[in-house]
Amino acid sequence: MTLGARARILLADDHLYSRLTVADMLNLDSYEVSEWDGEGDLLQGVERLRPDLILLDLLLAQGEGLKLGALLKQNPQSADIPLIVLSVSDDPQLRAQCRQAGADAYLLKPVERLELLNWVDLLIQKRQLTAWIGQIEAVLFRVAETIENRYNVADGRLTFSELVSQFGAFIGLTQAEIQNLLFAARLHDLGMVNIPDAVMLKTEPLTPAELDLVRQHVLVGEKLFEPLAARQDLRHIMRSHHERWDGSGYPDGLREDDIPFLAQVFQIIDIFNALVNPRVYKPALSTEAALKVLQEESHRGWRNPQLVERFVAFIGLTQQRGSDRADGLPTLGAYEVN
Ligand SMILES: [Fe+2]
Repeated sequence: MTLGARARILLADDHLYSRLTVADMLNLDSYEVSEWDGEGDLLQGVERLRPDLILLDLLLAQGEGLKLGALLKQNPQSADIPLIVLSVSDDPQLRAQCRQAGADAYLLKPVERLELLNWVDLLIQKRQLTAWIGQIEAVLFRVAETIENRYNVADGRLTFSELVSQFGAFIGLTQAEIQNLLFAARLHDLGMVNIPDAVMLKTEPLTPAELDLVRQHVLVGEKLFEPLAARQDLRHIMRSHHERWDGSGYPDGLREDDIPFLAQVFQIIDIFNALVNPRVYKPALSTEAALKVLQEESHRGWRNPQLVERFVAFIGLTQQRGSDRADGLPTLGAYEVN
């Protein structure tokens, strides 16, 4: 919905009198109402109309309203559209079933005008706010993507983001967890903004003071993500991705499973990615040599040994299939934030 446009509501009710009554209430409040009387395919109609909210009568289509509501909430095209169920029954079990199916509100018929408008206003505002936050996140993500692409080596090797999305899927992370890792992968370098080039580009060993400065990037990164309340995992990834399995890492000296799991995953990919790419202070290592370094660090007690072995197996699988972009492995696009 664009700014200033009237919100579109789809009213699905095959009972003519009840449909007209509700439509009148909404029209009076300046909503654009499309009616559906039970004929044709509701899901197709929703995809075409892209309403800002759906009102659905439970007795619709010979009592199939609940099933239709569940289908709408399972369909990625309509899952985010607020759904208000209209029902003549006050049965608590039915209410619970509707909530389980994804309904955002349950209103009793005959519908009371003020209650209806309160719910409609509230749910539409909530949806607009969610969409707005999603757009801001998408912009942030593109900025980060641009930064990451500056350092990309176009040699056919998996990028940091591709490693994150494919390894994340390999070990069974949820899509939300993979998205948080992708955010972290792309925004990680922003944590380095307060480190001067004289330190970043130095080819000799760093002094203790310079090392301290570099270590600050975990705290800068954590602070950057503080306002993203819905993505608190990001803060944990940024803060804890330099912890070590044996407690000798920074900034908190966390040990083993006290280190947030996503930070452990991020760390392994971060190290591998740094090893196989050239830096001003070191040449690139081969994939095999990089995996060996990770395994040595695991034996030394620095990394989660099981996770390192999963990563070695994952890289082996990509190589076995003849290409880093192996068939059967999920592609990056499937996990993009959009
Ligand atoms: Fe880091």
